Amino acid sequence: MDFLKEKLPEKIAHKLSEVESIKEILISEAISLHKKYTISIQESEHLQKIAAEVVIGDRIKDALGIEDCLRLRTGCAQIDDLTRGGFRFKMINEVYGEAGVGKTQLCLQLAVAVQMPPISGAAFYVCTDKSFPANRLLELSLSVPSAFGLSGDESLMDKVFVEHSMDFIALRRLLFVKLPKLLENVRISLVVIDSIAAIFRSEDIKYLERSKEIDDICRQLNHLARTHNLVVVCVNQVTDDPNSDTSGPSLGNAWANYVVCRFLIERDWTNGIRRFRVVNAPYLKPDACRFIITQSGLH
Ligand code: GTP
Ligand code: MG
Repeated sequence: MDFLKEKLPEKIAHKLSEVESIKEILISEAISLHKKYTISIQESEHLQKIAAEVVIGDRIKDALGIEDCLRLRTGCAQIDDLTRGGFRFKMINEVYGEAGVGKTQLCLQLAVAVQMPPISGAAFYVCTDKSFPANRLLELSLSVPSAFGLSGDESLMDKVFVEHSMDFIALRRLLFVKLPKLLENVRISLVVIDSIAAIFRSEDIKYLERSKEIDDICRQLNHLARTHNLVVVCVNQVTDDPNSDTSGPSLGNAWANYVVCRFLIERDWTNGIRRFRVVNAPYLKPDACRFIITQSGLH
């Protein structure tokens, strides 16, 4: 357990020689470690946190209910509360929903929010529409910082690197060549693909071929997310399932296998109230919150 020692204060590190195994640290109650090894409960929790971090990583930390990781807040209080602090780093997050529900609005807001402290990073925004909503980004650059106690500034737009991509080949080039190069010089913390469905929606593509392409893109996204500590948000559309009369996210299992956190946005078309729903996330219970979109963003 030497690899743990260097990350712990002397008093706890000293006790490690008595500990049976890493497994014991991870599965014991903090109070048991406290009693057995005469360290305080806070020290026991710290030991568990570091052990989880070193050995297993974020997902198990979630399972153990250890919350220390940085999240990307949206600046919309309801969504941030629901997601226990915002979007997670180092994994693929998906936001899906019907046309006009507010997926792009959320992503634009995130592109501004990521520039706020403590993250203070830049955004890489892959747009699959012909035109990027630059005017809306400008509006949000002026308004969203107030949710973080700061004043807006149009220069925030400069830290949103917008790229257009209409197909797999172009997206592949962006993710394998352009983004890695940019990451050498700019501290990107958010990658948005708006939308992943548009890249793969071509109907004449063969299923197996599409699965391979999705695989290719997702592996690279995961690789970059982990090595550069990125939040990855991919927008997806909904597809009707004619057999069950229900609808769900597009792109099937080839895509779903890579999505760690899946969120749905719905809209009540009678009054404009929207709902942000946790469909699947290892660290969150399925739940939803309401929000609205105004000129100043998501609230
Ligand atoms: P698709 O890309 O077509 O799938 O839709 P989307 O889910 O990305 O929708 P988008 O995020 O573009 O949301 C568009 C909606 O946001 C508009 O129809 C408006 O309801 C709302 N919206 C955008 N800007 C404003 C604004 O300045 N004020 C208000 N009140 N609503 C806005
Ligand atoms: Mg959109």
